Amino acid sequence: MQIFKEIAPLRAFLSKNSDSASLGFVPTMGALHAGHISLIKASRHENKFTACSIFVNPAQFNNANDLEKYPRTLDQDLEMLNKAGCDVVFVPEAMEMYETEPLIKFDFGELDKVLEGKFRPGHFSGVALVVSKLFHLIKPTVAYFGQKDFQQFKIIERLVNELKFDLKLKAMPILREADGLAMSSRNSRLNSKQRTDAVVFYRALTEARKLLKAGESISSAKETVAKICERVESVKLEYFELAECNNLKAVENVTDNTVLLIAGFVGETRLIDNLLMTE
Ligand code: PAJ
Repeated sequence: MQIFKEIAPLRAFLSKNSDSASLGFVPTMGALHAGHISLIKASRHENKFTACSIFVNPAQFNNANDLEKYPRTLDQDLEMLNKAGCDVVFVPEAMEMYETEPLIKFDFGELDKVLEGKFRPGHFSGVALVVSKLFHLIKPTVAYFGQKDFQQFKIIERLVNELKFDLKLKAMPILREADGLAMSSRNSRLNSKQRTDAVVFYRALTEARKLLKAGESISSAKETVAKICERVESVKLEYFELAECNNLKAVENVTDNTVLLIAGFVGETRLIDNLLMTE
């Protein structure tokens, strides 16, 4: 596995050694877990060459404390990637990606004003910026993302379509811990009590879906979710919403195209999760 910290040698290596017709790419912020590795494995399975990036992107953090506390486990990450058969890893320093303060901002209309966008202003602009840079550098034929970040995937889809990036996007299913908690780099920041509490978001999602399937109203499902979360002292619900899968618009009637999305804090750690009506 080749590791690059700088853009120029990465580009030189890829143009000589990678198969430009079959290059899978998995962008990450590190602190890797089995969810990330499932994306690497999918890429390995479907492409001749697999590249991964590890970069804690300052432009997408709207909270300095969150950026500072974001877990960093580079040695372990590289070991996991090597074991998973990744071919190239790009691990730039912030200066390599942002020589100067970036001026470009993205606006995705309604898509980045709802859900996460409402609570994390500027977040998706930062995501779109770094993903654009990475796509230009790596020139993948397929890029892999997790459904865990449902809104992020919708925004990247729009980015790729509008800017005509010549690549395919794939969304992969959410990997969960045995109790249902969605795997996340941020889970490592939870103490053992909080770790137990954190499953409340998944429980609330599954309970809400059960009620909706049984014909309960959206408002009663929302009340139930609020109650489930209130019962756990360390948990603070930020939102629970039902949205149309394709455009993330709030729904008035639940259909097979509805996605249930939840976000909140467990102690100081902010977590997100989602579930499709049809899953
Ligand atoms: P990060 O949170 O490290 O996630 C990298 C990729 O792994 C994302 O596509 C995410 O959806 C996926 N992922 C995370 N948890 C997962 C799980 N439990 N199961 C399956 N896939 C999972 O998302 C980012 O980084 C950044 O915003 C990035 C796209 C790299 C831009 O900086």
